Amino acid sequence: MIRRKPSPMRRLRNAALVCAAVTGVVAANAPVVADAADYAWNEYERHQGDYRAEHGFWETVELPEEYRLSAVHAALLHTGKVLLIAGSGNNAERFEAGTFRSILWDPVSGESKEIPTPEDLFCAGHAYLPDGNLLIAGGTREYEQLEDQVDRAAGVLNITNDQDEELTLPEGTRFVSSGRTYLSTEEVTLPAAHEMPDGTAMTEPQDVWVEAEGPGDDYVVAEDSVFGMPDLPATHRGDVHARSNSVTLEKQNFQGLDASYEFDVESETYRRAGRLDEPRWYPTLINLQDGRILAVSGLDEYGRVLPGDNEIYDPGSRTWTDSPELFRYFPTYPALFRLADGERIFYSGSNTGYGPADQGRQPGIWDLTDNSWVDVPGLEDPEYNETSTSFFLAPVQDQRVGMVGGGLVGDSDESTARFNVVDLSSADPRYEAAPDYPSPARYINAVTLPDDSTMLTGGSVGYRGNGESDLHLTAMYDPDAHTMHEAAPNQVGRNYHATAVLLPDGRVMTMGSDPLFADAERTKSGTFETRLEIYSPPYLFAGDRPELSEAPEEVVRGESFTVSTATDVAEARLLRPSAVTHQTDTEQRSIALDVAAGPGDTFELTVPAEEGLTPAGWYMLVVLDDRGVPSPARWVHVG
Ligand code: CU
Repeated sequence: MIRRKPSPMRRLRNAALVCAAVTGVVAANAPVVADAADYAWNEYERHQGDYRAEHGFWETVELPEEYRLSAVHAALLHTGKVLLIAGSGNNAERFEAGTFRSILWDPVSGESKEIPTPEDLFCAGHAYLPDGNLLIAGGTREYEQLEDQVDRAAGVLNITNDQDEELTLPEGTRFVSSGRTYLSTEEVTLPAAHEMPDGTAMTEPQDVWVEAEGPGDDYVVAEDSVFGMPDLPATHRGDVHARSNSVTLEKQNFQGLDASYEFDVESETYRRAGRLDEPRWYPTLINLQDGRILAVSGLDEYGRVLPGDNEIYDPGSRTWTDSPELFRYFPTYPALFRLADGERIFYSGSNTGYGPADQGRQPGIWDLTDNSWVDVPGLEDPEYNETSTSFFLAPVQDQRVGMVGGGLVGDSDESTARFNVVDLSSADPRYEAAPDYPSPARYINAVTLPDDSTMLTGGSVGYRGNGESDLHLTAMYDPDAHTMHEAAPNQVGRNYHATAVLLPDGRVMTMGSDPLFADAERTKSGTFETRLEIYSPPYLFAGDRPELSEAPEEVVRGESFTVSTATDVAEARLLRPSAVTHQTDTEQRSIALDVAAGPGDTFELTVPAEEGLTPAGWYMLVVLDDRGVPSPARWVHVG
């Protein structure tokens, strides 16, 4: 395992943080604004130079009205612009109207650009391709119907066709069971059965959604039932069979879409890719070796959690292929981390959204070479994994993952302040306690900074900010000193559907938040937060910054390259840009480069050799001086 000695820069910085930890502690859950006088004082104090230098500084940014959107997804592209995707943005009216949105925001110029969005990418998954384009897959086919909106029983029928002829059943086809009639809500094509060498017929059963022709309980089907099809041509009767054991008046989940697009960074447009093999709502996408991308989990086209059907994208053919050899169940939006050997994936236990509480909640290591699994024990509050947040501690060579916050499954006001860390380089990895977040919280945004600290910001105590429980709270975790201390509090509350990303200049941008209610009493509906907020960490108030005057655009794993800078370089990092939604980001990681002084103003930096540490793609190259102050980033590509 790659273990690096702390450099002088790190020791200095750690000493500084220990002091900050003592002076920076304020009451964990204290509201930021107690009264008008306090507010005025806070407003004054937070603008002071010494406060900023110790705690950093937040600025709220309001986009021009026509560009405001419900930013559910955020991805930093290697042009330095941030792609914000709303799709229908958790708004059923916009979904019905086919209003799907994305904007591209330039944090340097402040300019926005509307990006035509071809399908509803709301709640898709995403990961970067080696060329830096963003692959997006899944999305919303249909909005959920809450129980009080469901007046006709509905469910999925499974249909088999034993004839050697394909058959298409149009929308509105009638299905009858025990005298009750149900109508299909979509067309379905039943492939022809084909004969196997042993003479038996091989069929491909198809699912179709049906709705009762009338309202009420009489249409509920709770046990395995056979359905007749009076509309079938006489030639097919007896060869086509429909059955179901569940036609209900229960809540109908969101339904997944099989859409897949590459966001082309150069032309700033969505390019169509092959459809997913399985429709997915709330999937996780993660890069593999050879530039392939794995998609796991999600709700299918009828709102059922996929039982373990995973699939792989080939960037050459731009197509998805079902991977039955990697069959494995995860709850929706599982937090996955590819390890240094490139072949194993760590599931931290974090996830968001859907799935039974007793299935797929155990953290573990998944070996893709043989689909085997090893549990990782030791996690505190294991029933609080939903809406928790996980991230690689910096640098990624340490192979440590942290997991913070989270809540009970579903709509609960219970959350935890738990922060645990696991060292995956150990022979028997096990979660260990780390300093708690200063408050119980769900939906914490984690952003790893160039100086190796991870900024934890926002979240809410209750489900979707319920009970006005948004946190105005930001903390810095130092992975070397193992300390957590508070930074300047965010001004805008961020709960569900909020994100944060590191920007190339070292600032952090936060956006989104989707409260269920606007008041503590749950009487008024919440509105989606469209303001951005940008945090400048203390290192931006520390005086002169190092500056990279020269660096190559292409670097190679295992090899050295030369950069020029007038400052003495203590450390260098490659930071992979975030592509984040629902606290799920398989991209963010910080890679330490070996540093050696060269002639004149030059330094030789060396990229680690392992593909699993530095997957192909674009990175932000940053050098740090001996105070731990980072340079603005230059974009470099790892082939
Ligand atoms: Cu969502």
